[in-house]
Amino acid sequence: MLANRKLLTMETRDIGIVMNGVTGRMGTNQHLLRSILAIIKQGGVHINPDLTLMPKPILTGRNSNKLASLAEGMAVREIGQKLPYTTDLPGAIAGKHGECEIFFDASDTLRRVEFVQMAVEAGRHIYCEKPTATNTADALKLAKLVENAKLKNGVVQDKLWLPGFRKLAMLRELGFFEKILSVRGQFGYWVFTGLGLDQPAQRPSWNYRAADGGGIIIDMFCHWQYVISNLFGPIKSLVAYGSTDLPKRRDEQGNIYDADADDSAYAIFVLEDGTVCQFNSSWCTRVRRDDLLTVQVDGTKGSAVAGLRDVVVQSAAETPKPVWNPDIPQPIDFFRGWQTVPDNIEYDNAFKVQWELFLRHVALDEPFRWSLREGAKGVQLAELGMQSWRQKQWLDVPAL
Ligand SMILES: NC(=O)c1ccc[n+]([C@@H]2O[C@H](COP(=O)([O-])OP(=O)(O)OC[C@H]3O[C@@H](n4cnc5c(N)ncnc54)[C@H](O)[C@@H]3O)[C@@H](O)[C@H]2O)c1
Repeated sequence: MLANRKLLTMETRDIGIVMNGVTGRMGTNQHLLRSILAIIKQGGVHINPDLTLMPKPILTGRNSNKLASLAEGMAVREIGQKLPYTTDLPGAIAGKHGECEIFFDASDTLRRVEFVQMAVEAGRHIYCEKPTATNTADALKLAKLVENAKLKNGVVQDKLWLPGFRKLAMLRELGFFEKILSVRGQFGYWVFTGLGLDQPAQRPSWNYRAADGGGIIIDMFCHWQYVISNLFGPIKSLVAYGSTDLPKRRDEQGNIYDADADDSAYAIFVLEDGTVCQFNSSWCTRVRRDDLLTVQVDGTKGSAVAGLRDVVVQSAAETPKPVWNPDIPQPIDFFRGWQTVPDNIEYDNAFKVQWELFLRHVALDEPFRWSLREGAKGVQLAELGMQSWRQKQWLDVPAL
């Protein structure tokens, strides 16, 4: 009798989400497969024994066949049911193809403003990929639009939930570093030009064309902005230099094109408390480090090197004493003097963790601080980086 009464009060609240640009790399792998379908597969977001949030995606894009293969192929394989899909984006946003509370966009960067604006006009909550725009004015315009319309909004800042960065945050909270002196980020790997035999490019070609919203500065500085400000503190000023190292590449259709966007960038960010953060980003570098992104933090009482998942640490007491002497083989094995930080919890997919927080924000009004305004700060940092490079000068970061 009691059990029956309990069953009656259990609620599964459906949340309609238009997922746009879902046939792309990020849309398919991180947002549909590893986030939304994974959430559906686990039975939704369990809030409490009486309430579960269940995402109800509608897939949108330009190519019906590609959408069908996700909505009828991947979805059936993953969750045992088909998903609705349509090429009619305005109709989907208007709710003609099913309930829609949230508009999500992972299309390429250039179209973000137009799509988000359309969804704001229809009163949908907004969640989208970074960068939110290719310039600060547009990014800020979007932030103000959603704020004025009092819509819930968020931007993907997935790196914050990578195990490596969670562990850095934990070390900092534990006081492991004492005073953090400097941070060094090394990001990148070799992205094939597609010009060589049997070495096809592994990233979409628009990323290497300036007119299509490409460029490593607009791509990566958005990440560095939220990584640095959340882990180490607000950025006061920066100096940056970019370069187009490989000016010719081959696109998805096999055509050779002018890759005129910056494909490597070098920046120093100085934080309000004086901490120096230098970040190298490159699609033209071969990896000889622990991971595709590594961040070394040097503090007075200890240092740490974070990869995407693992972090190693060396405390003051374990620090060896190197002596400069190139006449003998190096007597110290520098890689051995580090300890691995254990996995004390199970880390879920970073995109999925943020999706769950956003769904809770929409349904339950829980706080969610990774807003379009925060996203605009990333675009601002990228724009200032390009300006610093062009003008060959240090620039301060104005408050947004
Ligand atoms: N958070 C991250 O770590 C991360 C990583 C890579 C890319 N991104 C961002 O995600 C976005 C997508 O990048 P990607 O690497 O997946 O690129 P991609 O080229 O693989 O995907 C873009 C998708 O947008 C679609 N698209 C283009 N025009 C469209 C339109 N008019 N209507 C609907 N769909 C349209 C394309 O068909 C494609 O499916 C970019 O803004 C990029 O900056 C974020």
